[in-house]
Amino acid sequence: MPTLPWTEELEIGLPLMDDQHREFARLLAAARHSDDAALPAAWQALIDQTEAHFAQEEAWMRATRFAPGNAHAMQHRMILRVMHEGAAQALRGDITPMRLMTGELQAWFPQHVQTMDAALAGHLRRAGFEP
Ligand SMILES: [Fe+2]
Ligand SMILES: [Fe+2]
Repeated sequence: MPTLPWTEELEIGLPLMDDQHREFARLLAAARHSDDAALPAAWQALIDQTEAHFAQEEAWMRATRFAPGNAHAMQHRMILRVMHEGAAQALRGDITPMRLMTGELQAWFPQHVQTMDAALAGHLRRAGFEP
C-alpha cells in the first residue's frame, strides 16, 4: 500500500488524533495511487474515515465546550461537502473533479493539522481533557 511521507510536523502528540491522521494520510495516498476504476472505492473509504475522524474531533470540542459553530468544525463540514460532491460527480460519469481533489486534499491536510488540529489539541490539554 503506498503511503504518504509521514513527517514529524504532522505529529500532534495526542495518540488518538495522530492515529486518525495517519490513517487519513494512508487512505489519501491509496486514492492518489488508484487508477480510474479503483478511485471511487478508494475515495469512499477516505470519506468514511474522514467522517469518523472529524466526528471524533467535534465530540472532543463539545465535551470541552470549545466554541460551538467554530471555524474548525465549519472547515470540516466544507471539506466533507466537497468530498461528497466529488463522489456525486464521479457517479454521473466525471471522475476528473475527484482526481483533482486528491491533490487539493494533500495540500490542505498538513496545514489543517498544523493550525486547527494543533490548536484543538492545545485547548484539550489546557482543559485537562484526556481523549
Ligand atoms: Fe484532524
Ligand atoms: Fe480537524
